[in-house]
Amino acid sequence: MDVSIASQPPQVTPLAEGLTARTFAPALDADGNPDAGTGAFHRAVALGFYEATPTDERMRLQEQVLVGDGQRITGVYVDPGSASLEHWGEAHEQLTYGSEHPVGTFIDFDKTLNAGGPQLIDAFLITGVTVDASYRRRGILKHLMTSRLAAAVEDGKAVALLTASEGSIYGRFGFGPATREHQVRINVSRAGEAFGLRGQPSGRVLTADPSKLGDVIDEVFAGHHAVTRGSVGRLPDHRRYGTGSGPR
Ligand SMILES: CC(C)(COP(=O)(O)OP(=O)(O)OC[C@H]1O[C@@H](n2cnc3c(N)ncnc32)[C@H](O)[C@@H]1OP(=O)(O)O)[C@@H](O)C(=O)NCCC(=O)NCCS
Repeated sequence: MDVSIASQPPQVTPLAEGLTARTFAPALDADGNPDAGTGAFHRAVALGFYEATPTDERMRLQEQVLVGDGQRITGVYVDPGSASLEHWGEAHEQLTYGSEHPVGTFIDFDKTLNAGGPQLIDAFLITGVTVDASYRRRGILKHLMTSRLAAAVEDGKAVALLTASEGSIYGRFGFGPATREHQVRINVSRAGEAFGLRGQPSGRVLTADPSKLGDVIDEVFAGHHAVTRGSVGRLPDHRRYGTGSGPR
């Protein structure tokens, strides 16, 4: 029997008046630094998560990854002049970060998922979801999520994936738990709790220079990804951490 399931795009929730969304590719200037719009976007992400403003060095590294990985960024911007019509009046123009600083952020990119079938499937990955504290609970997340999921459906993606910091937010958009985390402590001493390996161990441990491990890291992950159900394509950051070539 042939079963074909056509993905249905979600209904896109419109943004409130005075707000505009823009999707663009992060860009670097000639010196490898993020351009103004990209830098403002990343400062907004940090602010949305209540994190410290990233240093220039951190921004440079982060942007190089984003650009190299073909990630797309979507910001929601306050239309010039419209914020002063709200209850905060002129304080908005005088005290906030400026019109290039988004009040909503969303990053998406393409990776593959091992869903247990013979081939990896194309997946739409989501990160960097924040809304400025002054602009929450007015549907900005709803707009960002529904409009970007609609774009993913149009692009033929079979599945969307994210890691949630708060579990209660994403069920309304169709997301659910895909995995669970456990901590396991194993007593491997001779007097241990009947611990035994199923196979005969092989190989030797070799202390390696991390800076030479880039290709090994990629190869080991590719082997794991090909045979492990639930495995999701990794960010280039993992190669960077593994080779010790940048901060975590
Ligand atoms: C979570 C966050 C993005 C929500 O943005 P927002 O623009 O205020 O959300 P919306 O107004 O579009 O709300 C959409 C729906 O989610 C609900 N919702 C919003 N924030 C929620 C939260 N923290 N917990 C549970 N539900 C939440 C809203 O009540 C609304 O419900 P409805 O569908 O019944 O109307 C924003 O609060 C935020 O940036 N928080 C800090 C960063 C963060 O936690 N990001 C998520 C990381 S995974």
